[in-house]
Parts: sequence; structure tokens; C-alpha cells
Amino acid sequence: MENEELEYHDAAPTDWIEPGETARLDVDGWPIAIANVDGEFYAFQTLCPHQGTNLGGLRLEDRCIITCPQHGSRYDVTTGECVKPSNEDGFDQDMVTYPLRVIDDVIQVAVD
Ligand code: FES
Repeated sequence: MENEELEYHDAAPTDWIEPGETARLDVDGWPIAIANVDGEFYAFQTLCPHQGTNLGGLRLEDRCIITCPQHGSRYDVTTGECVKPSNEDGFDQDMVTYPLRVIDDVIQVAVD
């Protein structure tokens, strides 16, 4: 949801990320990931909250879920919620998500 007090930075054109896909991007020096969920875009931390495995670039499962390839934690990219804890130790911290908007077919993210 747009918030006029936030500072948004250009991230990528909307056609860079197809529905069902995610991508890793640097936005104002921050490593983030963006997902396309049925044409809606969501931004979240690209490094797994458990032990930092890269999540950007994974395909979505079950519409809006990514599964960390390292220890199997699963996250809802629309909310950041950890919906399945790590297979290794039960770690279940949620992901950080970032405000996102689309202006003239450009995805913009507020990372500050
Ligand atoms: S690094 Fe992602 S679940 Fe362990």
C-alpha cells in the first residue's frame, strides 16, 4: 500500500518478473526479492531469515509460497509469514517485507 511519507526507489520494470516467479534485485544498495503473484508484486528480504540462503529467483508454489532450498522453511511472500519452520531446528521467524508500488510499469520499493 502506498504511503506518501516513504521514499520509493526504482527496482525493475514490471515485465522483468513473470507471474509465478521471483527475482533478486539490489534496490538502493539493499538486496531484496520481488515476487509476481498473479500480476500483483510483493517485495521481501532475499536472504532467508534462518541462515541467509538466497530466496530471490525461486519459483512460487501454491500461488504465493517460496520454499528455502537449504532447510525447507516456507514463507508467504504476500505477508512475510513463515508458514513452515526450518527442518533443521524449527526456526520460524517471519521475513521482512517492504512497501511496494507500481508507477508507469516500473516497480518501486521503499527500503529505508
Ligand atoms: S537457510 Fe533457509 S531454512 Fe535454513
